[in-house]
Amino acid sequence: MKGFPDDFLWGGATAANQIEGAYNEDGKGLSTADVQTCGGISGFKVEIPGLDPKYKSAYDKLRLVTYKDNGHFGASILVKMNTYPKLGSPTIIDNEYYPNHHAIDFYHNYKEDIRLFAELGFKSYRMSIAWTRIFPTGMEEVPNEKGLEFYDNVFDECSRYGIEPVVTLSHYDMPLELSKKWNGWADRRTIELFHKYAKTVIDRYHEKVKYWLTFNEINAIIHSGFMTAGVFANDEQLLEQASYHQMLGSALVTKYAHDSYPTLQIGCMISYSPPYPYSSKPEDNLEAIRTFNLRTNYFGDTMVRGYIPEYKKADFERRGIDLDFQENDVRTLEEGVVDYIAISYYQTSVAIANPENEKFTQANLTQHYFNPHLKKSEWGWQIDPIGLRYALNLLYDRYHKPIFIVENGLGAFDTLNDNGTVNDPYRIDYLREHIKEIKKAITVDGVKVMGYTPWGCIDLISCSTGQISKRYGFIYVDYDDLGNGSGKRYKKESFYWYKKVISSNGENLGE
Ligand code: BG6
Repeated sequence: MKGFPDDFLWGGATAANQIEGAYNEDGKGLSTADVQTCGGISGFKVEIPGLDPKYKSAYDKLRLVTYKDNGHFGASILVKMNTYPKLGSPTIIDNEYYPNHHAIDFYHNYKEDIRLFAELGFKSYRMSIAWTRIFPTGMEEVPNEKGLEFYDNVFDECSRYGIEPVVTLSHYDMPLELSKKWNGWADRRTIELFHKYAKTVIDRYHEKVKYWLTFNEINAIIHSGFMTAGVFANDEQLLEQASYHQMLGSALVTKYAHDSYPTLQIGCMISYSPPYPYSSKPEDNLEAIRTFNLRTNYFGDTMVRGYIPEYKKADFERRGIDLDFQENDVRTLEEGVVDYIAISYYQTSVAIANPENEKFTQANLTQHYFNPHLKKSEWGWQIDPIGLRYALNLLYDRYHKPIFIVENGLGAFDTLNDNGTVNDPYRIDYLREHIKEIKKAITVDGVKVMGYTPWGCIDLISCSTGQISKRYGFIYVDYDDLGNGSGKRYKKESFYWYKKVISSNGENLGE
């Protein structure tokens, strides 16, 4: 193989709650993303019980989830909620700022934004459908036609330019009502409602959308049960149950799509940060396998191979987790295996058997041991292009299914110059180095990679901090972290660079 395959799906990625805004328009219900503040600027100050003070400054920037408990209002840190007991009822509070409510107003600007994607030469556009536009509380019998129409319009607009939509059914939002009533995915009944929602949109759009993903970063439940699964509690049993329910939901929907529309391609999506052993000590190597299995492979193995792996069953037993398995579940998982594997790749991690005195790097959602061989972004995410080639090799070797890199990118502060330009050579460098490694994985290692859609192709709201100033895009959107600004779109230097990358099918990396 000389280079990228001719049908390589170059593009960009976003998620409904991080771009659309219009959080309560045209019948949309409240979602779990609608009760999340912008990190660092909330009126609430939250203490994390038992937190080592040296990590405090990192946590100060994380966004909060606001709630009401016996008439009192409170807030908890989104990504650390797994350390809290059951909280009250998540709700919107007067005078708090919720960045997703307006986001970048894609809802009213989708035509202009998709036209810019077309100008970039996108072959594909990864986006998500907001469940709450279709079923506002999740419990309605009849879908909201206005919500369905919106996505019809978006897909039609993509099709005008020959852009293939890649659609995530659940990207970090779900009906808030289900979180309040049932603790989200912790309750088995949520599977049925998800299935109803997924069937509705697959039936409606199967002629317009060929590539689907069930859950975004399904393994991120480890870091935030609320963000990923609407679980407002810290109970390990509940979180494992919720995670298991999501995988059953994913399998049911995959089977439905395959049976009803055999040409559709359904994928799972995993946050992929493979661990390097900290040293050649046998203990560190074993720890790398252990943590990789429990944090990552469990999810891939279940959705790609169709059964719960032995190491996870042993883990349940060791921790005293008694999952509610039902008779048909084994078959459901077996029958609902995915066609391809999608990953987000931002960084690798480091595994240490005995972590005392080792330094951490805080990466918003996650905390990793610091790798002294790598640089890090302004938000502490360690940058490792070779790690992407490493990741692709591991994945392909394990499953032999096509891989779609549906997220990768650099969150950075950008400056809009007076003449409307944005110089972002740091972003170009980052992407160029990663693309080079993808090419090597394809050409040297023989890995089958379907496409590459860098994250936040247009600036959007960060999921972990709520900031827009943590920018990933090729297109600058003129808003600040409080939503002030014109909302105008500007092409960054990276816009022109990525356009050339796509038009040359990855041969011209502008070096
Ligand atoms: C992934 C998510 O974890 O990383 C996205 O799927 C998210 O929703 C992206 O936005 C980047 O993370 P952040 O915290 O910088 O927004």
